[in-house]
Amino acid sequence: MKPRSISIASGKGGTGKTTITANLGVALGALGKKVTILDGDLAMANLAIVMGIHHVKTSFLDVLAGKVDVSSAICENYGIKVVPTGFRFEDVHETLAKFKREKVEKAVKELLAESDFLLIDAPAGIQDATIVSMAAAREMLPVCNPSHTSLVDVYKLIRYGNLLGAWTRGLVVNRVGKKAEIPTSEIEQFMGRTLGNIPVLAEIPEDSKVQEAELEGIPVVVYEPDCKASVAINELAKFVAGEADLPYAPQEARDLNETTRRIIQALTGRRA
Ligand SMILES: Nc1ncnc2c1ncn2[C@@H]1O[C@H](COP(=O)(O)OP(=O)(O)OP(=O)(O)O)[C@@H](O)[C@H]1O
Ligand SMILES: [Mg+2]
Repeated sequence: MKPRSISIASGKGGTGKTTITANLGVALGALGKKVTILDGDLAMANLAIVMGIHHVKTSFLDVLAGKVDVSSAICENYGIKVVPTGFRFEDVHETLAKFKREKVEKAVKELLAESDFLLIDAPAGIQDATIVSMAAAREMLPVCNPSHTSLVDVYKLIRYGNLLGAWTRGLVVNRVGKKAEIPTSEIEQFMGRTLGNIPVLAEIPEDSKVQEAELEGIPVVVYEPDCKASVAINELAKFVAGEADLPYAPQEARDLNETTRRIIQALTGRRA
């Protein structure tokens, strides 16, 4: 199998990228895959904390600053490799000021040589660091929430990804069941009418165990393997690894609600 690099991305902040990067990584590791996860959120790094790594001596910022090779920045926890990004404001500021895309691409290439999967926790939005994280990966896995605003963001993100050559096979809807929200069938129809066939690969339920696990610094798939969110993330891992079929059959065409129609018109100029 060729190694796969996937950036876990979103338009809006706080959709669950870091949570999915850590837990999908650990779940793929538990399937016997060699996995590396990289904190591409240079300014607001927190992947190490979710992975229970609290002493980061050498980080991805040192790699980007040319101080060390990426191999020296690798930590291991929960059966996978983690390349954390440091928290010191001065280092972040300096690295972002001198940021070079080639350095990220070189590091990604080196990490991929040792992995079956490289997951990159991308920063929200489409600023420089995000674009680099997306462009360095061959695939993009957008994480959205079931809201109209999140859909608009993911639409823009997928279009950016296409321009950058990061292919989107499908998306993850996270925090499902929290409040008034768009059903998955409508999200898929929205995608179908605006971007082509982009299925929902997983619906991750809203689950208080995710935050409990985060407080403990333990990925939820380890902390509470049988909770709703862990079950959904493990299913996603099987699909991503090619060991299971798509969990959701493509939806039958049916009427869209008026808000979704209006958003499609605003984004594409066409009446849906
Ligand atoms: N399925 C879920 N159920 C409950 N809480 C969740 C779920 N997914 C994520 N969270 C919580 O939501 C918060 C934001 O998640 P996370 O940090 O993964 O988002 P993010 O997209 O990486 O954010 P940012 O854009 O700031 O990097 C965290 O406190 C996390 O524990
Ligand atoms: Mg994050």
